[in-house]
Amino acid sequence: MRPDDLAALHRRQFLRFLAGSPLLAPLASAQQLPPLASPKDAFSVMDFAEPARLALPPAHWGYLATGVDDNATLEANLAGFQRIQLRPRRLVDSSKPDLKTELFGTVWDSPIFLCPVGHQKAFHPQGELAVARAAQKTASLQVLSTVTAFPLEEVAKARGTPPWFQLYMPTTWAGTEKLVRRVEAAGCPVLVWTVDVLAGRNAETAERFRLTDTRDCTLCHTSARGGARDLPMLDGIEGGINPPSATWEFVDRLKKLTAMKLVLKGIETREDARLCREHGVDAIVVSNHGGRATEDSRPTIDSLPEVVDGVGGRIPVLVDGGFRRGTDVYKALASGARAVGIGRPYIYGLAAFGQEGVERVVEILRAELTLVMKQCGTPAIRQITPNSIARAR
Ligand SMILES: Cc1cc2nc3c(=O)[nH]c(=O)nc-3n(C[C@H](O)[C@H](O)[C@H](O)COP(=O)(O)O)c2cc1C
Repeated sequence: MRPDDLAALHRRQFLRFLAGSPLLAPLASAQQLPPLASPKDAFSVMDFAEPARLALPPAHWGYLATGVDDNATLEANLAGFQRIQLRPRRLVDSSKPDLKTELFGTVWDSPIFLCPVGHQKAFHPQGELAVARAAQKTASLQVLSTVTAFPLEEVAKARGTPPWFQLYMPTTWAGTEKLVRRVEAAGCPVLVWTVDVLAGRNAETAERFRLTDTRDCTLCHTSARGGARDLPMLDGIEGGINPPSATWEFVDRLKKLTAMKLVLKGIETREDARLCREHGVDAIVVSNHGGRATEDSRPTIDSLPEVVDGVGGRIPVLVDGGFRRGTDVYKALASGARAVGIGRPYIYGLAAFGQEGVERVVEILRAELTLVMKQCGTPAIRQITPNSIARAR
């Protein structure tokens, strides 16, 4: 795919659908509304995509919105939800919906969490601090990236409590120890090791966007090809990150190194789910990095059931990738996920409106999830089961 407005994909599909339907044609003009003046004006989380695109320079938009190669995994994540339908049950008292979700003894207001997304100053000057304040205000779980633009300690202060910390493992073990000790000292309860980009990736569309950016990138970056100058969590750590030599033995070493809970992010198969269990991993995030790692992966909503099966109920399974509607979240919960992560949607909100944009994204998704839970006669999360959905064959 050429450089293109990927984030407006949904909107374009919808407009095409409207254009083909004489009955609904008058509605098409409602899609041509003026740009959002306030986060409150957004109907759905994808309403933030276009304002985000307009707010960002092309290189940053390209980094945010795109996937790898031809963006097939990115698009598959979105398309996967269309093959699953709901099985609503009627005449259930749904007057008191309850979205509360427990993870490692902490209860969150909803199962929707904020995925680690690096370099958030590229999207808003307040970056991770604005997200931390939004997470606090909405009582949402925030996972902070190793390549955060603000130091963990400042983010923890802004949020009131330490977030979970996502680990991009340094290439030296000494560096890993140093980073993990710092994360422990900040009081993070959970370490989330991302294992899906250890082999590298081909972020081709982002590169194409970068070439359309006429600014002098070296004013802020280490080279014209990017490279952040400011990575506060890797300060004083020699070498790079993401050793391609990492194996399951590294999981054992990490388990020995720290008492924090250890979560692996980027698991997509039953076999690896079993290995997680055998190596004492405390939870899994089913993820393909939002289509930013391996091309031609399955949508995560399709990988989820076999991972859930592989862990046999012993550890929580979380999932992310392409979640844009409350119904998407519902389908994952019905497939056995304990919690559901969003990446791009809250960054669209951040880029467009800062903290308030992030809050509104969370609010919209929660409202949509609440509605579908009530509609389907499953007003509490524990009532959502595989019987709540039907997967197309
Ligand atoms: C701009 C961007 C930066 C990301 N940075 C990280 C990161 O630093 N660490 C990580 O584990 N995942 C990172 N991810 C992946 C997200 O954590 C998450 O898996 C993905 O965004 C979920 O898909 P979605 O964007 O379709 O919601 C990033 C994603 C985006 C879009």
